Amino acid sequence: MSSLCLCLTAPTYDGVLNQLEQYRSYIDMAEMRLDLLNPSERLKVLDLPGLAGIPLILTIRLPDDGGLWGKYGESEKDRDILFMSLLESGAWTYIDLEHDRTMADVAAVADAGGTRIIRSMHDFDGTLLDLPVSDLAGMIRRMAEGGSIPKLAARCTGSRQLLALARTAIATESVGAKVILGMDEYGAPSRILADRFGSVWTYASVPGGPGEAPAAAPGQLDPKTLESLYRFSDINKSTPLYAVIGDPIAHSLSPIIHNGWLRGAGLKGTYLPIRADDIAALLETCDIWGLRGLSVTVPHKEKALALCDYSGYPARRIGAANTLLRAGDGWRARNTDAAGFLEPLPDAMGLGSVEELQGKKALILGAGGAARAAVYALIDAGMKLVILNRTIDKARRLAEETGQAWGPLSDEALPLLEGGIDLLVQTTSVGMHPNENADPAPWLNPRECSLVYDMIYEPVETVLLARARSAGVRTLNGSGMLEAQARLQFEMFTGIQAPE
Ligand code: ATR
Repeated sequence: MSSLCLCLTAPTYDGVLNQLEQYRSYIDMAEMRLDLLNPSERLKVLDLPGLAGIPLILTIRLPDDGGLWGKYGESEKDRDILFMSLLESGAWTYIDLEHDRTMADVAAVADAGGTRIIRSMHDFDGTLLDLPVSDLAGMIRRMAEGGSIPKLAARCTGSRQLLALARTAIATESVGAKVILGMDEYGAPSRILADRFGSVWTYASVPGGPGEAPAAAPGQLDPKTLESLYRFSDINKSTPLYAVIGDPIAHSLSPIIHNGWLRGAGLKGTYLPIRADDIAALLETCDIWGLRGLSVTVPHKEKALALCDYSGYPARRIGAANTLLRAGDGWRARNTDAAGFLEPLPDAMGLGSVEELQGKKALILGAGGAARAAVYALIDAGMKLVILNRTIDKARRLAEETGQAWGPLSDEALPLLEGGIDLLVQTTSVGMHPNENADPAPWLNPRECSLVYDMIYEPVETVLLARARSAGVRTLNGSGMLEAQARLQFEMFTGIQAPE
């Protein structure tokens, strides 16, 4: 199990003590980033080990390693003197020294006082992880010489770098105490899954609001999120792991939904977001970590289907997978989007069941991946469809594949709607950030339908839905679908129903 280490990043000593108190209940240890503290206050930290009462790392970072030492004209000699005067007390558990600077005098004082040395390497330009894994593992082994704890913090610029980092962790399993982490959003899983990397601790920092100290390194999470959302301190080798993969991924609600259900059902397990630009590399990484299930989102749903060894009928027919399940040594593709789309529909239309959709008419705006799930769900329910899309060829292809009517996403399509439509389904990205003020079909009068169903859930009410509501038409946004498809995934992942 890995420990949680809070980086103390405040510019004042009072601020440092505040950070410690604010997060004390979530953390096991802390790192004093002395380079970030105002020079006039630096000697105050002599008190800190006694006040903190937890293991502390003493760190003074140089600019090359992402630090601020030297900002006020301090020299490296000044740094050595400060290190040595603080270490004399023997109260610091660890000191962080660069892997490529011997600093024999400082190291001798640390040894004499029983302070363990961390040898750290930081790569901010994102090229280190392009080296062969054997080279990276060799570096880590050399950094561990003499009983030091090696720490590698390397910028991950994509899924391939994250895979290299995961392989490096495997290749250095024999190095007892070490820290291996990937910086930036692509590397963030290494911070949550520190245990899978064999890291003795993970670093977390206070979230930086406007005018506050920023995270101590790119991609760091705050201790509260690590503990209350991801249950960091419960993660060990046998913890079931699940993830949502996509690009972008930062605003996905899936970790909140699934972690809430895991906790509510009393199950062990963590569900994390993974930004992925290369799904093949990402799946290899998930194999190394033993992930059991994945939610797949934009833009990977089609590629995910193609990479799977087995796939269910709905996924094959829709041509996209939003769920991957570990099966033996391969992945099984599933699609819960169509069923999730249908779930809230009868109720929202004031109908008793899906069967009552039979013979009704729906207009679909869009012909992308989301539209395909809706189209197949509605055809299975026996509805007749008109599919409109900006790129008319895509509307034609989907309509011909499914035996439905099609047209352009413009008022030229109005003749196709004569006789009225029962349901309008909006599947395009028009109405969501950054187009939240746009209406995909301003020429359409919503009064013609009994329900307007927009798959967007953020904003909660799109321009189209607001227009429908003021026309007195029933509306439904995408949050019910989001929850319903996630519920079905949860059952596939865990074998039990998601709690209410
Ligand atoms: P998803 O999986 O979310 O459906 P997608 O497969 O990329 O994503 O499909 C996006 C849909 O939104 C498409 O129907 C797209 O129309 P095109 O096929 O013409 O690209 C539609 N869309 C995106 N931006 C649009 C815009 N500004 N106006 C109209 N339609 C738009």
